[in-house]
Amino acid sequence: NQYQVIILAAGQGKRMKAGKNKQFIELNGRPLITYTIDVFEEDPWCKEIILVAHPDEMKTMEEIAVQNGFNKISKYVEGGKERQDSVKNAVDAIEDPLITYIHDGARPFVSISELHSLYTEVENNDAAFLAVPVTDTIKRVTKDNVRSLNRSELFAAQTPQAFKYSLIKRAHDQASEKGLLQTDDVSLLEALDVQPALVEGSFDNFKITNPEDIQKAENMLQINKLKGQE
Ligand code: CTP
Ligand code: MG
Repeated sequence: NQYQVIILAAGQGKRMKAGKNKQFIELNGRPLITYTIDVFEEDPWCKEIILVAHPDEMKTMEEIAVQNGFNKISKYVEGGKERQDSVKNAVDAIEDPLITYIHDGARPFVSISELHSLYTEVENNDAAFLAVPVTDTIKRVTKDNVRSLNRSELFAAQTPQAFKYSLIKRAHDQASEKGLLQTDDVSLLEALDVQPALVEGSFDNFKITNPEDIQKAENMLQINKLKGQE
């Protein structure tokens, strides 16, 4: 079993308010992005990593990769304005398609068993994604209306999201032709009438987004370290 992963690190991290791209925030002395790359370096099913970085940060990213001894990064791709633009640049840059995973650089706590569950599902369904049931009651709020949604039907989509290459290529080509913009990749399948498989993941695979998430991430690293010592 073999897949390639696109890791997205070309955002600005505005909500983090750290004055720099959150991917470079140090957790126990190493940049956040290195923990995310570690998981894929360690997964024997991952054949190559395509790393998407901001043009101004490309050199820093390459230096970090050397310092950490990463050896699966086959390509560095320049990100675009929106997340979807960054993904499209990477999808277009792939030369030897395998099953293609797309993952947020800001989710360092995905597990290898989750990565393998996705693989099985994508083989049968062409597309699969990790998600968790929502714990809050979600309201749709418009100018003059507040509607409650049925929580038992609601899930929060995470990454990785995994695809047969030809499908994700088609989805992104069509989205850019039609000017569709979405915040994740499985959303683009709706226009093609393709149903992705949902793989229930873990709350540990949260996206480091807001300042409070840094303490949460440091706690997770501490817990993982203790587990490793057992
Ligand atoms: N991302 C990217 N290119 C963009 C925007 C986002 O590669 N133009 C990446 C981010 O680096 C991140 C992932 O997509 O790993 C998920 O996005 P998000 O959590 O929103 O990160 P940022 O866009 O960096 O943060 P913010 O929205 O707070 O500015
Ligand atoms: Mg963003």
